[in-house]
Amino acid sequence: MANAFFEIREPENESYNSYAPGTPERKKLREEIDRLKGQEIEIPAIIGGQKIKTDHQQDVVMPHNHQHTLGSVHLCGEKEVEMAIEASQQARREWADLPWEERASIFLKAADLITGPYRYTMNAATMLGQSKTPHQSEIEAVGELADFLRFNAYYLQQLYREQPYSPDGMWNRMEYRPLEGFIFAVTPFNFTAIAGNLPLAPALCGNVSLWKPATSSIYSSYFIMKVLHEAGMPEGVINFLPGNGADVGNPVVESEHLAGLHFTGSTGTFQHLWKSIADNIETYNTYPRIVGETGGKDFIFAHESADVDALVVAAIRAAYEYQGQKCSAASRMYIPESIWGSFREKFLEEVQKVKYGDVEDFSNFMGAVIDQKAFNTITSYIDYVQESDDGEILFGGNYDDSEGYFIEPTLVLARDPHFKTMEEEIFGPVLTVYVYEDDQFEETLQLCDTTSPYGLTGAIFARDRYVLKKMSDKLRQAAGNFYINDKPTAAIVNQQPFGGARKSGTNDKAGSAANLMRWMSMRSIKETT
Ligand code: SER
Repeated sequence: MANAFFEIREPENESYNSYAPGTPERKKLREEIDRLKGQEIEIPAIIGGQKIKTDHQQDVVMPHNHQHTLGSVHLCGEKEVEMAIEASQQARREWADLPWEERASIFLKAADLITGPYRYTMNAATMLGQSKTPHQSEIEAVGELADFLRFNAYYLQQLYREQPYSPDGMWNRMEYRPLEGFIFAVTPFNFTAIAGNLPLAPALCGNVSLWKPATSSIYSSYFIMKVLHEAGMPEGVINFLPGNGADVGNPVVESEHLAGLHFTGSTGTFQHLWKSIADNIETYNTYPRIVGETGGKDFIFAHESADVDALVVAAIRAAYEYQGQKCSAASRMYIPESIWGSFREKFLEEVQKVKYGDVEDFSNFMGAVIDQKAFNTITSYIDYVQESDDGEILFGGNYDDSEGYFIEPTLVLARDPHFKTMEEEIFGPVLTVYVYEDDQFEETLQLCDTTSPYGLTGAIFARDRYVLKKMSDKLRQAAGNFYINDKPTAAIVNQQPFGGARKSGTNDKAGSAANLMRWMSMRSIKETT
């Protein structure tokens, strides 16, 4: 596989623009926001490189101002899925036969387009379509997206170089083949960057994909298709199928060519797809690989030796950045009685300063939640607390959807560690804290481990290293991404590969070579020499 003319150097993580007042970057971002808001775009399906309009269209609106339409999207159904399967199967052989260096070059070029001429577009589209602040957009729709493309290309090179031992008289080798069929990639609304992995990691390995982005993040997803086109992605390799889950998912899982599912989204949908695949298992030409990241009930656990100032910052950032809609967002917290008083005082002082509202006002720390459905679900939990004797709202609790889907950062005190908001996934800016007696440390660790069926992210805070080791051991299975004295969010590609086990997913770490391995089927070759 060595090629004297092609060597991918280990990339560096993309650096971020600050968009601080007075900077030229801030001015450029504002101009791009105005440009995008001043036009309405029609988002088609893209199948075999062709733009396809369907009979079902839906408006694309901004979560922080739902009267403002960014454009409309064409929603796909069975007919478009069949066209996409056909197109993907036509493109498959040629794409798989392309030297891997040529495939990787397209990804590297796409990364350079994202961090170069498309930087402000990707940021502004994610701000407007998903209500992210400039910083939250920059770190993922630019930084993480480009990182996925660059690092995955680098990992591919390293994997291809890994070869088995050959004693004298033989040449053993491993051929890394793509899967036979197509990969169905389902991306969520909360990170534009996830598209850099779900449809694209399999494609890098030589597979073809059918990509169903969440309808609520369709706006930024569409710009990724533009970038890929400009980078030279051949027609039919990535087929873009906006649509409702069942309309697209049901015909997909009935296809004999389904070779894999790469999913991020709700636990219910993932389980439904897995069951549907099981029901159709005799249909397929190969056993579909199933890789998914689903729900979480991510925690922060503090010991009495914790640094309270650091804990406050971590709690606010982890619970409220992007309105608590990161898969990794902290939503339950355990604090010992001995530091609760000082934590409470400092937290309440700091959280007052958290501004939320229109993300086009760059001084806001939080925008709106994604849509009416999310707003209704999150606020139903707040209402539940208001009416309960076992929980109390210590801060926030207000909400208003008249203009945008705004929910105040909210802190709940639970008197019972099994209180509803300590146990259920809310996916919004609601953090629940349970205060434990210091001498109940071990029992509370056990509670933290067993309260939730999930195992995505978690953070522990302590200064005592013996205690840190003990906490880390006890919570070994409680989080696939585990943080010590830091917030449980903001994993970086190549630094903290991301994914959780238990009911949070298959833990095939995004942002690592382990993920790429799932999209390859190896042939072991022995040649006598
Ligand atoms: N990777 C994101 C984070 O770590 C969550 O999907 O916050």
